[in-house]
Amino acid sequence: MRYITTPIYYVNDVPHLGHAYTTIIADTLARFYRLSGHKTLFLTGTDEHGQKIEQAAKNKNHSPKEYADKISLEFKKLWDEFEISYDIYARTTDERHIKFVQQVFLTMWEKGDIYKGEYEGYYCVSCESFFTQTQLTNGCGCPDCGKETKLLKEESYFFKLSKYEKDILKWYESDPIVPKNKKTELINFIENGLKDLSITRTSFEWGIKIPQNLNDDKHIIYVWLDALFIYISSLELDKKSENLGFLPAFVHLVGKDILRFHAIYFPAFLMSANLPLPKYIAAHGWWTKDGEKMSKSKGNALHPKIIADAYDLEAFRYFLLREVPFGNDGDFNEAMLISRINAELSNEFGNLLNRIVGMSLKYSNGSILQDEVLNFYRAELNEANLHLQNALEFIENFQFNRYLEELFKALSVANLSISKYEPWNLIKNNEASKANALVSLCANILAKVSILLHPTLPKSTQKVAKALNFEITPQIYQKLILQNSLLDFKASACEALFPKIEKALLSEEKKEEKIQMPKIKIDDFAKIELKVALVKECERIEGSEKLLKFILELENGETRQVLSGIAKFYKPEELIGKQVCLISNLKKAKIFGYESDGMILSAKSGDKLVLISPRELVESGSLIG
Ligand code: ME8
Ligand code: MG
Repeated sequence: MRYITTPIYYVNDVPHLGHAYTTIIADTLARFYRLSGHKTLFLTGTDEHGQKIEQAAKNKNHSPKEYADKISLEFKKLWDEFEISYDIYARTTDERHIKFVQQVFLTMWEKGDIYKGEYEGYYCVSCESFFTQTQLTNGCGCPDCGKETKLLKEESYFFKLSKYEKDILKWYESDPIVPKNKKTELINFIENGLKDLSITRTSFEWGIKIPQNLNDDKHIIYVWLDALFIYISSLELDKKSENLGFLPAFVHLVGKDILRFHAIYFPAFLMSANLPLPKYIAAHGWWTKDGEKMSKSKGNALHPKIIADAYDLEAFRYFLLREVPFGNDGDFNEAMLISRINAELSNEFGNLLNRIVGMSLKYSNGSILQDEVLNFYRAELNEANLHLQNALEFIENFQFNRYLEELFKALSVANLSISKYEPWNLIKNNEASKANALVSLCANILAKVSILLHPTLPKSTQKVAKALNFEITPQIYQKLILQNSLLDFKASACEALFPKIEKALLSEEKKEEKIQMPKIKIDDFAKIELKVALVKECERIEGSEKLLKFILELENGETRQVLSGIAKFYKPEELIGKQVCLISNLKKAKIFGYESDGMILSAKSGDKLVLISPRELVESGSLIG
């Protein structure tokens, strides 16, 4: 039994390339396990409660539920257009889920794992995550996403996370974290000491209330506690007991942004709720755009449908899986996509089918018999089989790029054999049986590769199966992949699989689909006061790699203290006596325990930060505008 999940995505905004990536990986795995004969259940869905959604809905003048309905449908529509083979589309606003979460809360409460207290600390609404002051970056920025956090002080129920430290570490010994190297970070995090986790909030409304028996109506269950249990609530264990077999889950696929929630909080919650822990939590890296994480809120998101429409959905799927090693970040690059379509999908894969069909129609009326393959081409067949076995191992270990790489190595065994043995010459030299056996070798390799490639390229591989007249089924999988058998085929003419791409198809503005910064009026700008300031003093801040502390002089000798995160780019001593530009009417902030009264302007250029300063010395305090 294989239960496979994607994260349930927030409905604050529409899906982008990153969401498509996780979903396509999960879809590939689900298809793989179905084909290899496992009972498989594949869940995706949306995460619809919490402050982030409440705010997003408000900004768009919708009620949270209306807004969630609308965006959840957008995700579902995209997955349907992409023919994602999910079995369950789960939503946290589902009544059944709500009841389940309340029940779990009660179980944990009755177990003594929950107590009431007061939370004081910082909260990032974008990540829906709690932080202590020392964890913050650049003043009050969230260490995960960089956005501003809010200081919270409210009554809250706490979960005894600390109680589960040892058990979580023990669980790690079974190697549930993929890739394995991510485990060390998690262990460090835990060994630094886990704090009990605030699991209710009172300062907004949109979420699941704690159970009625606790008589404490204003408490809303923390959205992560709510969301993570979707993986269990959706199994409807009470009704369809056959779903029981799907626990423990086989793998929860996630991006590395939410590994901590899945690999630390979730196992503790599960243990507290007396539920089994998943076999794997597999975390992939981020798709970046020009080196920055692609995200809805940054406005640098690529829309997956635009790419898939321009290039072919299957080519897009192939590219995503092939391009980056699972766990690493990858930068989306259109030229690379084109090159993979042309060199790999079109040349190695599509063209091999054309060659096989062409030759067999010419030499043997389309009939391809396995009889003499082993007599003539045992070595080639063994070599191809070796790559297929490697591919199998890699997909089972979540190494999707290497799985595809091995399949293409197997294809190249076929393609190289054609160049090496030149069947057209064999025919001329009256060695028809050797020529026909070569076609059969190639057809068998192509069929085997197509079976293992089927989870990634469901439609194109069906076209191969149709052209060679075989079926892609769990039975054929057993035969051709596990038992290394050969098949006879009957070829018929077919269209080219992946036509060559001659030129880039995404126009710049389509590709970017940038959510433009809104235009502002001059009076919006007039609210910002910019001044030239002279650096009187400048020093590093102990314990921070990024921060410099400035004493700046403005008009009439007025001085103020400002912190700026440029220590990686400038030495303090080289800045003293220089002029900088300052936003001088920014509200004061505390950064790293120091007051900062303004913000120094700099330009971001690639990986560098460059301070902005007037071309010539001007009087300190001069207004910029
Ligand atoms: O975190 N590159 O939802 P979310 C690769 N609701 N993958 C990316 C990505 C990128 N740039 N951006 C997003 C949430 N993803 C919670 C999850 S689960 C119980 C609750 C993918 O809408 C990746 O899978 O922010 C990441 O973990 C997920 O989308 C986050 O989606
Ligand atoms: Mg996110």
